[in-house]
Amino acid sequence: MAGSFAADVVPLFTQPSIKHMARMGVKLNDFDYMSDPAGDGDYPDHANARHVYARLDGSEQPQMPPGGPFWDDDMLKTLSDWMNVAPTFQP
Ligand code: HEM
Repeated sequence: MAGSFAADVVPLFTQPSIKHMARMGVKLNDFDYMSDPAGDGDYPDHANARHVYARLDGSEQPQMPPGGPFWDDDMLKTLSDWMNVAPTFQP
């Protein structure tokens, strides 16, 4: 299922993490930030969301949140489906 940002993705982030990462410019609960289609040197498109996913599955280090508990497969699939299953990046 493609999923909804507000209903499916945002509830997976902890409130402390949302606040902490917002101070570092990573706006986990901000639809405009997380659905930004812009790429960067690492990803051709949607770099903000793809970096967040990579931090959560550990393909970019340090894995988030620092020290865990890390997201389980169901949580990662929810975020991955939102990004990759049409219609993608729905509010
Ligand atoms: C190396 C610099 C970074 C530090 C020191 C850092 C630190 C932290 C800390 C302390 C938390 C947990 C806050 C809490 O629960 O109180 C957190 C959560 C998180 N951080 Fe970072 N972070 C860094 C970089 C990043 C980057 C670059 C990204 C993604 C682009 C990222 C994505 C996340 C995510 C997705 C969570 C939330 C996990 C959850 O809610 O389960 N972090 N980070």
